[in-house]
Amino acid sequence: MNAPVTFDQLEVGFDVPALPGMDEAEIQTPCLVLDLDALERNIRKMGDYARAHNMRHRVHGKMHKSVDVAKLQMRLGGAVGVCCQKVSEAEVFVRGGIKDVLVSNQVRDARKIDRLARLPKLGAKIIVCVDDLANVAELSEAAQRHGTTIECFVEIDCGAGRCGVTTAEAVVEIALAVDAAQGLEFTGIQAYQGAMQHLDSYEARRDKLNVAIAQVKEAVAALEAVGLKPELVSGGGTGSYYFESNSGVYNELQCGSYAFMDADYGRIRDKDGNRIDTGEWENAFFILTQVMSHAKPGIAVCDAGLKAQSVDSGLPVVFGRTDVEYVKCSDEHGVISDPSGVLKVGDKLKLVPGHCDPTANVHDWYVGVRGGKVETLWPVSARGKAY
Ligand SMILES: Cc1ncc(COP(=O)(O)O)c(C=O)c1O
Repeated sequence: MNAPVTFDQLEVGFDVPALPGMDEAEIQTPCLVLDLDALERNIRKMGDYARAHNMRHRVHGKMHKSVDVAKLQMRLGGAVGVCCQKVSEAEVFVRGGIKDVLVSNQVRDARKIDRLARLPKLGAKIIVCVDDLANVAELSEAAQRHGTTIECFVEIDCGAGRCGVTTAEAVVEIALAVDAAQGLEFTGIQAYQGAMQHLDSYEARRDKLNVAIAQVKEAVAALEAVGLKPELVSGGGTGSYYFESNSGVYNELQCGSYAFMDADYGRIRDKDGNRIDTGEWENAFFILTQVMSHAKPGIAVCDAGLKAQSVDSGLPVVFGRTDVEYVKCSDEHGVISDPSGVLKVGDKLKLVPGHCDPTANVHDWYVGVRGGKVETLWPVSARGKAY
């Protein structure tokens, strides 16, 4: 055990769940814990994969919302920059020193566009997605007003069923408008197939991606025919990056969840039928929780409920345990089935959340641990930045 935390440390760190140098056992719960060794292995592995396949990797910062994790992905994994979904996230990443930021989403609303157009003044390259001509005009007007350049990806809906155009003709029309607009540059295409990433079967994911790839190839050919060869063709996630990397048309990946992993992604299968959390990626992201009541036989109650996680993709899984199961939650309570009565009050458990992105968004801090010790404390820098 470390020496107890001193009063001075408490003055500095009264609102944090842990301090560097503490034993892991002393971390206050519930809080987010990163296994730094596993995180670094995941990051290096994806970096090696991207390099070996001549792919740029623009990591998705919407997942972790952390300047520190993004910088680690750039340093260890060779990432070229980050994606994010909101202008407020982009502001955090740019102010944090990340100079190549894609808002992989549509930005509408004059005030948000104005904020986006200011960001290049901080020395950042800013790319945004567009899927209609009116938005091209709005972005151009704001960029000219600020004397900046905004780069644009025309977004293709290649199966996700959310933003993006669906025909090559529409891609060309918008790309030509971007190319002609003052203050804008046509940089390429975004085609992220978000609806297939979590399908269990590798073959089902491959079939969906093949449709997307054909659609993207058609759009690229149409762009080339009007002299607008896209510099970047961007997309891909943790459930699909190998398809984009071998497509011959994409040259940039946008993977996010691979770095942390979560229970929902863990269940999908690789090409050999194995779960992807049993070899391809490691769980590096946990909610540390503590048993706070065991007043009834068979049921332990822990301190991580709905306010500590998102359960949109299922309940969390108790990491490394088959004897106990997280079965129910309410705001501040998690109910754990403990049929053999192995848990006692004060026991700590690591939960693998169902969905990493919205879980990270409800915490202030990541506690980075290595070898049983707290090594670092990183803020969830863009927590709550949804505007
Ligand atoms: C546009 C876009 N690109 C990439 C990703 C990253 O996907 P994943 O976290 O599955 O790797 C997402 C995630 O939702 C996304 O919305």
